[in-house]
Amino acid sequence: MNKAFLNLDVKKGKINKNIYGHFAEHLGRCVYKGIWVGEDSDIPNTRGIRNDVVEALKNIDIPVLRWPGGCFASEYHWKDGIGPREDRPKVINTLWGGVVENNHFGTHEFFDLCDQLETEPYICGNVASGTVQEMQQWVEYMTFDGKSPMADWRKENGREEPWDLTYFGIGNENWGWGGFMRPEYYADLYRRYQTFARDYGDNKLYKIAGGANIDDYNWTEVLMREAKDFMSGLSLHYYVHPGGWENKKKATGYEEDEWFETMQKTLYMNELIERHTTIMDKYDPEKKVALIVDEWGGWYQVEEGTNPGFLYQQNTIRDALIAGVTFNIFHDHCDRVQMANIAQTVNVLQAMILTDEEQMILTPTYHVFEMNKVHQDATLLALDLECEDYEYGEEKIPAVSITASRDAEGNVNITLCNLNPNKDIKVDINLIAAELNLSNVSGRVLTADTIDAHNTFENPEVVKPAEFTNAKLTDCGVEAVLPSKSVVLLTLS
Ligand code: AHR
Repeated sequence: MNKAFLNLDVKKGKINKNIYGHFAEHLGRCVYKGIWVGEDSDIPNTRGIRNDVVEALKNIDIPVLRWPGGCFASEYHWKDGIGPREDRPKVINTLWGGVVENNHFGTHEFFDLCDQLETEPYICGNVASGTVQEMQQWVEYMTFDGKSPMADWRKENGREEPWDLTYFGIGNENWGWGGFMRPEYYADLYRRYQTFARDYGDNKLYKIAGGANIDDYNWTEVLMREAKDFMSGLSLHYYVHPGGWENKKKATGYEEDEWFETMQKTLYMNELIERHTTIMDKYDPEKKVALIVDEWGGWYQVEEGTNPGFLYQQNTIRDALIAGVTFNIFHDHCDRVQMANIAQTVNVLQAMILTDEEQMILTPTYHVFEMNKVHQDATLLALDLECEDYEYGEEKIPAVSITASRDAEGNVNITLCNLNPNKDIKVDINLIAAELNLSNVSGRVLTADTIDAHNTFENPEVVKPAEFTNAKLTDCGVEAVLPSKSVVLLTLS
């Protein structure tokens, strides 16, 4: 019934490791408390940055980290965040909880974080409330290797060498809190701002234009028509909200109706990418401009008793399925999707890590990122799937999602997701190859007993990967029985 045909000889492209990127905003307890605790904290830290969080994130090989927002980027004035910390102005984070932003985590601290994580920085500039000159000076401050007012100022602040900076966003959600602009207006502003985001010396910026919200295809049309020659990437934001934006449901304690809706909405990412890509193909058939999904993930009600502006939510086996299925979709579109950044890294929305003072736990989503490391920069292989449906009421969706890639050592890694929370599913994977030299299958699985299983500070290991023993080699390939609600990684070597 469930059959996959995996052609080991047909390469479909390279899976850019940057689709495993992250996003850390000055929002709630993501940056402050989640990442930055300050040098005087009792929580072990390196120059103010939490050691436990860095260590955990290093283990999932974060390729790129987007900062400082999000909406926060549209109110961020970078000069507030440099120089002696005690002199930095305290401002109000109006969008996220109205709390005081003391600017202790600024440009130098962000690059230090990236160095500690061995990740590439992706900085989002302020088009909404910042000036062209402000943006130009930020790029000069960060990347100019010579004598200039901004480079000299950087040196006075303790950083002699310029930093390497590739990814630079020209604004965030300019159709929304980034200025409520029309696409025609933003396209012109984009052209103007990007002109002054200069390449200094050998530093080459990869400029990313603020793209569409969900299915705003007209936004993509206008941006591609008016500004494609000035950008390397165009973004897309899409969040999964069971219940809808106005009536978000809880992160835990849900029943199957919300599970099903979540899976349906997760699969919708495929249609969004296809339709935005069709428009991009019209203007850019050579696929020079990448689609950058720089905000994605599940978004629910905040945890009871927490600040509504902090977007703190739990993370369950359902979130693991969101991640697993979404990555399979990104892989399928690896010719156009060159980066993605889950929202957000710590304590906000679909986080990898939750902290409570000095405590830290890893979420089911974290474990999917860890299991999927094998696909980073691997070669996508051709795969067809015939599978049963997962039916709920009158509706149905495919019950299985699958992807396969070959890594540099020649191993074939296959990720399978079983979206059905009630049923184990057997899948036969037929291997097609001129020469089959794979003789071993091993596996790992992430699953749980209940549909809202999650890790807590009291029970941090309820959902964690285990060895998978339900796969075996057959005459024509490999056969696996996927537990209900699971993400399974098979490695053929
Ligand atoms: O990730 C939370 C918020 O969602 C971001 O600040 C914004 O860009 C988006 O609307």
